Amino acid sequence: MNAIRTIRAIRGMNDILPGEIGAWQHVEGHARALLEAYGYEEVRPPMVERTELFRRSIGEVTDIVEKEMYTFDDRNGESLTLRPECTASVVRAAIEHGLLRTPGRRVWTMGPMFRYERPQKGRYRQFHQIDVEIFGVAAPSAEAELIVLTRRLWKALGIGGLVLELNSLGSRDIQAGYRARLVDYFSAHSSALDADSLRRIGTNPLRILDSKNPAMQGLIEEAPRIVDELDADARAHFDELLAMLDEAGVAYRLNHRLVRGLDYYTGTVFEWTTDELGAQGAVCGGGRYDNLVAEIGGPASPAIGFAIGLERLVALLEVQSVELPVAGPHAYLASAGTRASILAHAVAERLRDAVPDLRLVVDAGPGSFRAKLKRADRCGARIALLLGDEEARIGRIAVKDLRAREPQSTVAIEELAGHVARNVFAR
Ligand code: HAM
Repeated sequence: MNAIRTIRAIRGMNDILPGEIGAWQHVEGHARALLEAYGYEEVRPPMVERTELFRRSIGEVTDIVEKEMYTFDDRNGESLTLRPECTASVVRAAIEHGLLRTPGRRVWTMGPMFRYERPQKGRYRQFHQIDVEIFGVAAPSAEAELIVLTRRLWKALGIGGLVLELNSLGSRDIQAGYRARLVDYFSAHSSALDADSLRRIGTNPLRILDSKNPAMQGLIEEAPRIVDELDADARAHFDELLAMLDEAGVAYRLNHRLVRGLDYYTGTVFEWTTDELGAQGAVCGGGRYDNLVAEIGGPASPAIGFAIGLERLVALLEVQSVELPVAGPHAYLASAGTRASILAHAVAERLRDAVPDLRLVVDAGPGSFRAKLKRADRCGARIALLLGDEEARIGRIAVKDLRAREPQSTVAIEELAGHVARNVFAR
């Protein structure tokens, strides 16, 4: 008979396990609290959208749309795509549900994204983002707010050393002029280009600047710079942002090669990067996309946002040995014997009623009290509550402090709630 083959997770899609979840919750909890404190409202768009949405917003000639989308026909023959990012989805939802009628609307969302990339450290096929967007604010104060908010988040998480990189891509008109200059430049050096870049001269030359091909880095470094093409308005906007950041004490590095991998950007773009994670150093990226809302059928509305890559942020917490708060149970109730185990859940429920917010685990495994005590200790509980048949009969329960070298005591089950509230919960 053939052995049954075990089914494993899909390459590039990871399980997040109990030992890792603390770091995720640390990040998510701080992000949620901070976003709420700054006035952002949570939205949860679906994970699947019409393919057309991403083609139109991210751009036909981008790595994401050309080679990385999980696209399939549903049973009606409609082309759908697992979202590779969610700015397009948030914009679609905002248009569809009239969220743009309130100017200055701030929204955020969190969840998995899907890109068929070559999996490696820090780059996965399912990964998670916290995505934040502001609609209806044309002034650079929107950029400044997003940047000071992220700076506060890194501090709250205990992360140091992230570098803010900034560039401005100008309006669509400026980009059109710049594109022509790039076509001239790269055409004059076509023998040094790889196949992808050669093709992109004719389709989307800005994307050549994204190339990670080491052989082309010198050529890209010498290419014309978009900052040199900015008109007076774009220059003034960018300068005002830099003045706001200077005033708020935010350090930044101007990076003229920062063009981002999505076509919807106009104006400011930024990334928070680290050199502590190897090749995948961008932990957060975003920028202004003042044309996108109209391009996908909404009312003309400026917009700006960013997304944080959670896998990379969690990896950085680990690399920087950030200590995470541990929230083990306050109490661990173990029973042995028929009568005691019949009573155990009733005792636990009464305790939970009497001490709200108590973290109480009821042992569910086999074995002796010794084995159960070991489990209680391993899960980080402060006290163990031990209920044997004899205790059950006389209405008492043994209390053992697992963190102090104190002798075990017994208390009347009637008085257990008061005892736990005074001695464990309040401490
Ligand atoms: P993005 O730069 O494509 O921008 O992604 C944002 C972040 O997601 C990256 O900086 C990185 O941390 C993480 N990330 C991207 N791809 C992967 C991957 N394959 N594996 C692990 N992490 C990854 C956007 O997605 C835009 N929607 C951001 C935005 C929001 N712009 C305006 N609003």
